[in-house]
Amino acid sequence: MTIKERVFSGMQPTGSLHLGNYLGAMLQWIELQKTHECIYCVVDLHAITVWQEPAELRRSIRQVTAAYIAAGLDPEKSILFNQSQVSAHAELAWIFNCVARLGWLGRMTQFKEKAGKDREKASVGLYAYPNLMAADILAYKATHVPVGDDQKQHLELSRDIAQKFNNDYREQIESIGYTDGIFFPQPEPVITGPATRVMSLRDGTKKMSKSDPSDLSRINLTDDKDTIAKKVQKAKTDPEPLPSEPDGLKGRPEAENLVGIYAALVGDPVTKVLTDVGGAQFSSFKKTLAEAAVERLAPLTSEAARMMQDPAGIDRILADGSERARELAAPIMAEVKEIVGFIHY
Ligand code: AMP
Ligand code: TRP
Repeated sequence: MTIKERVFSGMQPTGSLHLGNYLGAMLQWIELQKTHECIYCVVDLHAITVWQEPAELRRSIRQVTAAYIAAGLDPEKSILFNQSQVSAHAELAWIFNCVARLGWLGRMTQFKEKAGKDREKASVGLYAYPNLMAADILAYKATHVPVGDDQKQHLELSRDIAQKFNNDYREQIESIGYTDGIFFPQPEPVITGPATRVMSLRDGTKKMSKSDPSDLSRINLTDDKDTIAKKVQKAKTDPEPLPSEPDGLKGRPEAENLVGIYAALVGDPVTKVLTDVGGAQFSSFKKTLAEAAVERLAPLTSEAARMMQDPAGIDRILADGSERARELAAPIMAEVKEIVGFIHY
């Protein structure tokens, strides 16, 4: 059986989106919708693995949706919806809770980071988080998953789950007509954005993240022009001028990060950027970088803010996307239930 290419990805509605999300994920999502059938999900079930204030969560779901549309995601072409509206995600996640092994989850670095020292106090959901992520993807038999570098390990786990399910239920899978024994495909990570790992502006060895307590560490997609300029100005650097070749960035994580961000924003390779700016001081490069960031993000920020004036309009888009997603997942879930041995009508 030939497997149709289908793209799935998700982003958490927690806090505001930042430049790392934009360069690492959003741009790829938008590119892929030109060539593929794409399903994009605001993962609200994942969000509550750590405490979320309900009113703030609701606002965040709309905010993330608006940002993606403002950045160029077309909700008519691609399916855009929030996870909790399609029950297949939670149902399949439960089945995967029974397929995945405790040991597999214990190795996840994101859990270790997020749970911190006192693991006993982490929610069970935070531990099982990657199983839900596998369910997101496989409820649609998606084959390609565009993500930032940090999600690689979770995707490997999704592949392991797909494989174990196919092995455990091989006989039943074959008996319903999958003669090659492959019910779930092995989802491929697509980690090819212009900057797959954008680092913090305060520490070039740490990833730019929503959860960093310092707002100066990231550029949010909701920041205004002056805030962006201030954050870039305050970004950590070293005392040397910029090198004129990529080799000169070695061992200089902050310089490498800022040059990488600039290259991604203007769409040039790092080599070309360094040919142009090599020898310059950071003070002047930072001005150019801030201008590039503002030019790229300002239209997106204002369009998202405009959309936020009409929450019902955003909700309609999510409702429509959910309906289309439900239709795609339904026949797959019916087969899963058949395979596992549930009675279903
Ligand atoms: P999250 O905000 O954690 O739901 O992430 C949404 C998407 O953005 C995922 O595909 C992440 O891999 C990607 N992402 C998050 N932070 C970064 C970063 N600092 N650099 C590149 N990609 C990122
Ligand atoms: N875990 C991803 C993140 O934090 C978000 C996510 C949830 C996701 N489900 C997914 C990404 C399915 C890709 C596919 O970024």
